[in-house]
Amino acid sequence: MDDGPANAEVALAMCRMLVNEGVTHATALAHQNRDYPDNTADRVYASAMFLRAILADKKIPLAVYPTAEIMLSWNTVFEWRAGGLLSVGDHQQWLLVEMPPGEFLDVLPFAASLAADGVRLIIAHAERYEPLLDNLELAHKWIAAGCLFQVTARALAEPRDEHHEFALKRWAQGGFIHLLGSDGHGIDHRRPQMRAGYRRLARWVGRTQADRIAGEWGRAVLRGQPLNVPPPQPRRVSWFTRLFG
Ligand SMILES: [Fe+2]
Repeated sequence: MDDGPANAEVALAMCRMLVNEGVTHATALAHQNRDYPDNTADRVYASAMFLRAILADKKIPLAVYPTAEIMLSWNTVFEWRAGGLLSVGDHQQWLLVEMPPGEFLDVLPFAASLAADGVRLIIAHAERYEPLLDNLELAHKWIAAGCLFQVTARALAEPRDEHHEFALKRWAQGGFIHLLGSDGHGIDHRRPQMRAGYRRLARWVGRTQADRIAGEWGRAVLRGQPLNVPPPQPRRVSWFTRLFG
């Protein structure tokens, strides 16, 4: 339906890859943005249900949930209220959102408007946004406004440079990472990989916290169960900064 699997066979192969990695729950999603005007909420939902039926038929033990990855625009809240956007698992609780290419928008006005409807935001592949990754104060504000941060497993396993690794580790250990995603697009390119990301997380934050991020919290979101995560660690201000700014 977009730049993901071209047909059901590839989608099925991706599901098999995930099962081999120990994954039990996933979201089968497509983009909703101006590049893919045909991806209506109903169509994306129906495709995920089609995949769910194939998985059941082939006895592949992966629970898939319908979702759209929504590109934020001035129109997002209006579109949501008009019923044009698909929420995570169609539970009307979470919208999975990303930034328009090359832009970095303030999500707080979106979060505030949608909170009135009982809907919160999940920031997809949050590690891609350096103004967010590098600014813990901003990250605190977004999380306090109800956002969850989803991070790509591959980014954790293979950080692109030392700086990125440092920033991701700081996020992980500070409690800024809530969900692990594969960002899987196919079986050759951008394959769905989760295990290596989970292992890296476990090394940084321990198994208990890694299991929350890669398991418990994601399952709650996908199943539409209530989820409240602990706030991130308060920012530590050193004595030097306190004295000299
Ligand atoms: Fe995306």
